[in-house]
Amino acid sequence: MSILLTGGAGYIGSHIAVELLEAGFDTVLFDSLANSSRSVVERIERITGRAPEFVCGDINDAAAVRSVFERHDIDCVIHLAGLKSVPESAAKPMEYYRCNVGGMLTLLEAMAAAGVRRIVFSSSATVYGTSGEIPYTEETPTGCTNPYGRTKLMCEEILRDCAAADGEFSAVLLRYFNPIGAHPSGLIGEDPRGVPNNLMPYITRVAVGALEKLTVFGGDYPTRDGTGVRDYLHVVDLARGHVRAVDYAMGHAGARAFNLGTGKGVSVLEMVRAFERASGVKIPYVIGPRRAGDIAEYYADCSLAGRELGWKAELTLDDMCRDSWNWQKRNPDGYGDKA
Ligand code: NAD
Ligand code: WQD
Repeated sequence: MSILLTGGAGYIGSHIAVELLEAGFDTVLFDSLANSSRSVVERIERITGRAPEFVCGDINDAAAVRSVFERHDIDCVIHLAGLKSVPESAAKPMEYYRCNVGGMLTLLEAMAAAGVRRIVFSSSATVYGTSGEIPYTEETPTGCTNPYGRTKLMCEEILRDCAAADGEFSAVLLRYFNPIGAHPSGLIGEDPRGVPNNLMPYITRVAVGALEKLTVFGGDYPTRDGTGVRDYLHVVDLARGHVRAVDYAMGHAGARAFNLGTGKGVSVLEMVRAFERASGVKIPYVIGPRRAGDIAEYYADCSLAGRELGWKAELTLDDMCRDSWNWQKRNPDGYGDKA
């Protein structure tokens, strides 16, 4: 069986490619390398002993996307290609709508032309907005506060409309919580450009000496230690969830959303302590003001994914910290060749 991964050279896509190849699937990675490195492909081969097909192209280039389906017999698509920075999306909304929503339309048109009707989509917990009770279930009301989140919600709606129009169309909408960690080999991991926005890459950059100290965004939230609480999950667990989602898409029509998280909340200070434990490196930090748009606490109810996909996160917070550190330590400059 052959799976097309758009955005397959990225952080999450590369880990999914490893799990799929190890499970016996064939993979085609389609990526513009806008936020990833070509060396990922060779590293995936070193881990799995199998070379994924790689096509360099833009998801909004209709001819390039169509030609992938003409040259490969694709059974299911995992659509990860897109832009993902919340602050950047507020500054450049049109770029986000063009890439994330336009890209989804280009992909769906090419899928329709090729008769491919199964897709797994990288959605996000960010679609839940700010007013829901925790833990978030798939029934928690959606409502986004930034353009990035709205692109995810719009793509979910487009996929629901496709499923409503075609009784054989299958869309699995995976709402990721906070993926961190890296492959235990230390060969692939998260490699953000410039100063990271997100907590774990910031911590690992401090640990490696590239940044001086962490600023904790807010120490006065109504949480157990005053810092923000999130549901962090290991990227390898997340990748395995996609293998289950592909199986599910092969056997079920319709559009269905699933939360992928651990179901456990971890505060910023708990994360700092867990990282120090796993790495033996002290992380200097200061408590700063709250970051605009952040909410105090949320985590997932993942029981639906357990029942329907047969998936549950297995790896611990210590595993996540150990593997993030192993990746950063072995690759202090990330892949080193990002444009
Ligand atoms: P990433 O940036 O590492 O991966 C995205 C990949 O898409 C990159 O390799 C990039 O080069 C590629 N890409 C970007 N624009 C493209 C275009 N126009 N055409 C072709 N390829 C293009 O990010 P990631 O963390 O691996 O995220 C993958 C997906 O998961 C994204 O859709 C993201 O929105 C979603 N997601 C990520 C998180 C997270 O915290 N990392 C959480 C929820 C959802
Ligand atoms: C986690 C916690 C921060 C950095 C984002 C996107 C979301 C999804 C995942 C794609 C919060 C605190 C962070 C720092 C800090 N991505 N923090 N100092 O905001 O939960 O989610 O990534 O879909 O859409 O919004 O993740 O890692 O940025 O923050 O104190 O330098 O760490 O305030 O409490 P977030 P994050």
